[in-house]
This record gives sequence, C-alpha cells and structure tokens, in this order.
Amino acid sequence: MKRLVPFVFVLSVACLQAAEPPPIIPRPLKVEAAEGRFLVNEVTSLAFPAEWKSQAELLTAQFKQDAGIHLKPSPSGSIRLEKDSSIADREAYQLEVSPDRVVLKASTSSGIFNACQSLLQLVPKDSPHAIPAIRVTDAPRFPWRGLMLDSSRHFQSIAEVKRFIDLMSHYKLNVFHWHLTDGHGWRIEIKKYPKLTELGAWRQQPGYPEPGKAGRYGGFYTQEEIREVVRFAAERNVTIVPEIDMPGHNAAAISAYPELGCSGKPQPVDWFFDYPCKAQKFPPFPGTNEFCVGRDETLRFTTDVLSEVIELFPSTYLHIGGDEVNPAHWKQCPRCQKRKADLKLPDEHALQSWFIKELDRFLASKNRRLLGWNEILDGGLAPGATVMSWTGEEGGIAAAKMGHDVVMTPQNFVYLDHGQSNSPLEPNHWPGHNPLEKVYRYNPIPASLDATQAKHILGLQGNVWTVFIHEPWLLDLQTWPRACAISEVGWSSSANRDWENFLQRLHQHRPKLDALGVNYWWEDTAELGTWSPANITAEFKPLVLDLSKLLASKPAGQLPITFSYVKGAHGLAIRSVELRVNGSPAGSDAHDGFTGWSSKGNTYQLTHPAIPDGAKVELVCEIHSDGGTDSEGRIVSESIETRKTSGSR
Ligand code: ACM
Ligand code: ZN
Repeated sequence: MKRLVPFVFVLSVACLQAAEPPPIIPRPLKVEAAEGRFLVNEVTSLAFPAEWKSQAELLTAQFKQDAGIHLKPSPSGSIRLEKDSSIADREAYQLEVSPDRVVLKASTSSGIFNACQSLLQLVPKDSPHAIPAIRVTDAPRFPWRGLMLDSSRHFQSIAEVKRFIDLMSHYKLNVFHWHLTDGHGWRIEIKKYPKLTELGAWRQQPGYPEPGKAGRYGGFYTQEEIREVVRFAAERNVTIVPEIDMPGHNAAAISAYPELGCSGKPQPVDWFFDYPCKAQKFPPFPGTNEFCVGRDETLRFTTDVLSEVIELFPSTYLHIGGDEVNPAHWKQCPRCQKRKADLKLPDEHALQSWFIKELDRFLASKNRRLLGWNEILDGGLAPGATVMSWTGEEGGIAAAKMGHDVVMTPQNFVYLDHGQSNSPLEPNHWPGHNPLEKVYRYNPIPASLDATQAKHILGLQGNVWTVFIHEPWLLDLQTWPRACAISEVGWSSSANRDWENFLQRLHQHRPKLDALGVNYWWEDTAELGTWSPANITAEFKPLVLDLSKLLASKPAGQLPITFSYVKGAHGLAIRSVELRVNGSPAGSDAHDGFTGWSSKGNTYQLTHPAIPDGAKVELVCEIHSDGGTDSEGRIVSESIETRKTSGSR
C-alpha cells in the first residue's frame, strides 16, 4: 500500500460530525431510531427459510468478514430473515433491530439481499458489535441502478470482475452492464466463431509490457467462466446485461474474420498508440471498425453470436451498442450501397437503423429486448428498442417522448472514466470533469418530461471505460466513491436526497470502504483565499492570507497549496509561497507557476513545523496577473488520500 500523498489535513468538515444519522448508503426511504442496542456475539444465531439459504450464507460470510463472528444457523435464531408477501416491490425490505432480535423482511430474495446489505452497514467493526435499535422501511426509486465495465480496452480477470460486482451489490446497485466487445479486443468465447477469441482477443501493443517492447496484450472469458459470473451476480441481486457492440467498434472481430468488413482485407486488432494510454486524441486506425451491413453473412454472424449470448445471460435486455458508427466505408462499399438502394433508404443513418431493426426483430423472437446507445435513434428507432442516453440527455428525452424506455447515462454527469478532481495528482483519465458532487446532484428525470413520459426512465448508470485504466487499483480509483453517489441517486427518493447529508454519511462510512479494501479517491478541499481584480496587479506583489485559525495547534506536516483559475481574460503567475509563524519564515516553496486556461506548476508544497496554540500564521503569496487584472480564482489546499495497491487481486 502506498499513499500518493501521506498527509491528512483536517478541514472544516469537523462540523459534519455533529448529527449522526445511520450511515446507510444509499439512504433508505424511512429510518426511525428506537431504544437500545442489539449485541452480536459468539452465540448469535440466524433463522431463514430454506429458499433463502444462499442469501443466509452470504450474510454469514459477510458478518464473519466484517465483525469476525460466525452466525450459527438455527430456526430460533435472534437474527431472522422472514418472507413477507405483502411487501410489493421485489427489491423492497423492512429491517427492525431491537435489543432482543433483528428481523429482516422482504417478499423476494432480492429484497432480503438488500435488507442484509443495510444491516451489514450498521454493524460496528469493533467490539462490542452493538447495532443501534432502528426501524427501516425501504424501497428503490428506480429499477435500473447500473455500472458499466469496459473489459475490452483493458481486460480484467474473472476475480476482478467478481469483485467489481460484489462491491456494487453492497450499495444495492443492481445492473452490471458488461462491455464485452470493442475494437481493442473481443472478450467473450463464441463457440461457432473461435477466431474471435483466438485472434480477436489479443492485440500487439506498443509499449507493453514495458517501454520499447510491443507485446501481446489481451484475454477473454470462456463460456464456463461467464456462467459462473452470472450465477455469482444473481445471488447478489445483480443482473448482467452483456453488450456486443455493433455495427461499429468492431476492429477486433474484423481482424479475426476480415469478411465482416466492407473491404474484406486483413487488418490488426486496434491498439493504443502509447501505453499506458495518455493520448486524448487517437490517430486514425489503419482498418475499419464497422461491419459491412451489405453482406448477408454479417447478419448471420451477428444473430449467431447473439444466439450464444442469449444462452449465457438470462437478462431480458441485450445491449447491441450502436454508438459512434463511421459511415465512410459504407459510402464506398458497393454491397452497402446496393443494400441502401434495394431498401430505398435515404442515407447511411437509415442503413444503420435498418440493421438495428433486424437485430430488434431477432431479439424479440427470442423474448429478449434490445438496448442500444442513443445513436440508434438516428435514422429511426427500432420498435422494441430501449435507449441508453450517453451523449447527453437529449436522446433519452426524445425516446421517452416516443414511449420508449430509457436508461440515463449522460457522459457529462455520470461517466466515471472522466476526472473527479482538480488535483494534479489525479491519474490520467478521459477528458471531462465529473466530481462526486456533480454525480450526486444528477437527476435522471429531465424537467421537460411529463409524468407519463418520466415513467419511461428506468434509472441511471455510471460507465467505467477503461482506456486509461490499465491496472486494478485505477479501476477502484475511478469507480469509488462516485459509485456510492450513483447508488443513492438511483435508490433514494428525491425527498431524501441531500448532498450535505450524503457527504456526512460517506465520511462515517469510510471505514467500511477501507475494510473492503477499496482504493477509493478521497479529497477534502479547504479554501484558503481568493484573488480577483481587487487584490492583484500586473506586477508581482505579495498577497497575504491569514491561516491562524485553520492551522491552529497543527502538528508538523505538509501543506499543499494550489492556485486555481476560475474566470477572467487573464491568468495568474506565481513565483513563491511562504508560511510565516509569528512573523518568522516557517516553510516556503519558490518556483514559477501559472494558472489560467491551462495551468502549469500551480501547486506549491510547504513543509511546516508544529504550530503553537494562538500563533499568528500568514501565507505570503507572490503573485501577479498576466496581461491585465481581469482574473479570478481560488487558493485551495487539498488533502488527497488514496493508495496504490500492488499486484492483482
Ligand atoms: C460511448 O461512450 N461511446 C457509448
Ligand atoms: Zn459494406
């Protein structure tokens, strides 16, 4: 374990510790505190109906892990899982903790699993394991509370995939959208087309496994392994929705079967132009990502593949992708043009729409439903399609107004591969900025929908694309704790959603995330001051900030200071930062820094001695605005804690 920044800075968040609601995430519908506590000890036993044996076993295993206590099975157990058919929603539950017993009620195994997750969040890790008496009545706001994992751009082992699902399930996230195919690797074994994984699962990756080499990168999941993951997820109330992305994003499949492309020519699996990936723009790929929709063989291939996928995944929905299709090859392909002409289609959007409608018809004939990215609206939406709205909310709004179901996953709010911080310490990520608060404040029901249309919004999903995520610790870092926010947006009622309250619970909840070994991003920001035209000039001049209160009685430590431009025509140049305690220098950092439309060297690291009680502490910043005084910004100190876990899990 390695701390990126071995420093904890206690902030104004102390005030957050005043009230103490139970730290359940996502926040339940109704919580009533009661008198007393239930003590869990070595003789505590568990009663459950036979049909919920696997839920009881999971609870027992988690209890052992969390509290070190083995719950003995017994019909007279003081912790009781009880079936109550009067609970209408299949995921809803009731939980009553009183001094002599704990009763969890639900009508289905999904509901009882959720009840167990809430109970586990209430068990103190340290002895005595005294659970506060409480009554919880809970039900979800949305039926779709998902996370997507991209296993193509980088490959995760089965153990890593299971861990991802297991963590989701602790927070009542119930849909695992598995992005199994893309240009950088085909990851699912298809018996009828073995070359998909013999060839298409592997790319020749420059820079891998080390600079100067170009090694074979990849992997795939056998059908046997996939069945095991589906079973594992189902026990945890998680449905796996597989995605076979078509007709674009298919360089890997076309590399295995060149006849699926318009030219029919051999081509490589796509690769990253640097490794680990840092590029934010990729040079054009020397091949094609698009299936040739003019060939009948393509349709046969896609329905053959979907037939095997259907056998593996019981999910009602199958995701067929449909995003980011580049029609350039179709425009030059005689077969695609003949198809367009034969069907009297006006353009290539309509050609793609025809292809998706064929898949829709096929899936409907197998009693499954087609789900696709919002580009499937272009050229006409297939009659049975459900839309996943990612480029924004517009596609989802249009689909809901047409009476189609929608999952909201707009990239500017809930894409978890985007950045979550302004810190220069944040690892490389896809461009974009979705910090925790922004994710939390996202409301999946757009204001422009009326009540009937709004019923078509099934829920929301956070997407974890792995272009930049080449190691497991980064997967955790991008996903958590933002997935906790996704969970609460999807589960908790609008009335119960409150950012400050969530943050407070998240603070209290951190030991659980730590105990689960989650390498989550954690950041506290203290604002030390601001600059504006009123306190800067075009020449270097000291800006003095009073930090006496903030640093009162602090032990020796480090103080990172970041100058962060907010607005204005001009940037800010910085040349030094010095801390003065009772007028004497007590730490400084001098280097040229700049913050504006782009920033460089704008973080300063101070090492300071213990600050005596009552000392006058000043921060002297030598700054000037660049080119004029139209500049505003914040001077902040960020405490960032994260750890890099080594090796695979
Ligand atoms: C997507 O992010 N291309 C769906
Ligand atoms: Zn073609």
